[in-house]
Amino acid sequence: MEMPLHALLAGAWVGCVLVEALFERALLGQGRDKELILARLHWKVDLFIEGPLLASVAVTGLLIVRPIFAAQAVDVLLQAKLVFAALAILANIWCIRLVKVRLNYAEAGEWEAFERVDNSQHRWGALVLVGLLGSAILGLVR
Ligand code: HEM
Repeated sequence: MEMPLHALLAGAWVGCVLVEALFERALLGQGRDKELILARLHWKVDLFIEGPLLASVAVTGLLIVRPIFAAQAVDVLLQAKLVFAALAILANIWCIRLVKVRLNYAEAGEWEAFERVDNSQHRWGALVLVGLLGSAILGLVR
């Protein structure tokens, strides 16, 4: 039961990240009023959807991996999967922090600082996607 739930939640997380990428592309550079809406929207999605998905994927993943560790049956594919999973989780937590910092700058009208954090958030976002796709592919092929 845990495994399909884990895969379902992981798929929802990937979908959430892809939708975020689309609304970022649609609203960035369309004027400060749109960028303020974007910053607020992204923070809400992180808080109510992406954050809970991330946490539930980590919890279900750890529940699945515990007996495998206990049986000392961690093979190289699973090790690689866990590295990608850790990358996805840590990079995404950092991204969520950057989304909040970016929102604070947008609300304060500090647009130079907003741009700086925005650039960094998109670079970390690309790493999240690498981690997600790596864990999904290795989870499925194992
Ligand atoms: C703390 C983080 C995670 C842990 C500990 C973890 C652990 C695991 C384990 C142990 C398996 C079973 C592998 C097997 O025995 O064949 C698995 C399967 C899987 N994981 Fe994760 N995982 C984590 C995060 C992720 C992430 C971030 C994704 C990608 C979005 C992901 C996607 C999958 C998928 C698609 C499967 C295959 C499920 C199936 O075949 O039904 N996992 N995971």
